[in-house]
Amino acid sequence: MSRFDVDARILRNEGLARNIFRLTLSAPEIAKNARPGQFCMISVDGKSRFDPLLRRPLSIFDARKDGEIEFLYSIVGRGTDILSQKKEGDLMGILGPLGKGFGMGQCEHPILVGGGIGAAPLHFLAKRLKTAFSVVIGAKTRDELPGISAFKSLTTRLLIATEDESIGCKGVVTAPLEEELVALTKSDAAGYLIIYTCGPWPMMRAVHHICVKYGVRCRVSLEARMACGIGACLGCAVKKADGGYLHVCKDGPVVDSAEIDWEAEV
Ligand SMILES: Cc1cc2nc3c(=O)[nH]c(=O)nc-3n(C[C@H](O)[C@H](O)[C@H](O)COP(=O)(O)OP(=O)(O)OC[C@H]3O[C@@H](n4cnc5c(N)ncnc54)[C@H](O)[C@@H]3O)c2cc1C
Ligand code: FES
Repeated sequence: MSRFDVDARILRNEGLARNIFRLTLSAPEIAKNARPGQFCMISVDGKSRFDPLLRRPLSIFDARKDGEIEFLYSIVGRGTDILSQKKEGDLMGILGPLGKGFGMGQCEHPILVGGGIGAAPLHFLAKRLKTAFSVVIGAKTRDELPGISAFKSLTTRLLIATEDESIGCKGVVTAPLEEELVALTKSDAAGYLIIYTCGPWPMMRAVHHICVKYGVRCRVSLEARMACGIGACLGCAVKKADGGYLHVCKDGPVVDSAEIDWEAEV
């Protein structure tokens, strides 16, 4: 699989909500080769290229034929804070596309389940799906769901849950997901259902357990601290259900949820 290490020009770096930004870069080679679920390693060099030393992994939110590639990110620490201060016209190092993506099947009825900023890779997936699908997303409050409007134009079946009820139903994402599964397992889609999910670890663990209960396949997009992003440092290890380890950057980030030891991490 081709990957490219380029200096890309920033076209836009817009604040969408408190601490959430959308970054648009011109990177035609990466945009052309990107698949839903893949990610890029982005240099967030501050005063020099080596400050902070490491690149940061971000999932691809969108990749278009015009050569533009987009990321949705939240500020959680120093690297993403520096990233949020970058301006239109700045150049930034970007390596990608990396990792294994969602790998869509033709007869599937997908249900996309996102938690907060974890909805980012699901947006790119939603754009590329050719079959009917449902989207179930949740967060603490509506400010943490800036990608909602993008989903509205992509699916007729969008279910939202927020813990403060600022949008959608009150509660966590697993409640509307379970309602959707109850309905779909009685429909023509039963037998073709598959869940693609990305979000915080406890949310994905809960989604995995629901999938086991309803006998539905589930593919999760994992997150781990990453140094290299290409399988060289072995820093992104996650424990497998069979006792071994997988490396998120190389074996994932998208894997079958049954492969993971969900009790090993919090
Ligand atoms: C494959 C992949 C795709 C990702 N996609 C996105 C995305 O689309 N949008 C987005 O906002 N974020 C995404 N992340 C997470 C993002 O990489 C981290 O938030 C970022 O690297 C933090 O850098 P920092 O320097 O700002 O924070 P740091 O100062 O390094 O850390 C701040 C806090 O964030 C936690 N943290 C840092 N990195 C990670 C990580 N990889 N996973 C879990 N917790 C972490 C740290 O433990 C610490 O508590 C992704 C991560 C991976 C592995
Ligand atoms: S980040 Fe280096 S092996 Fe995965």
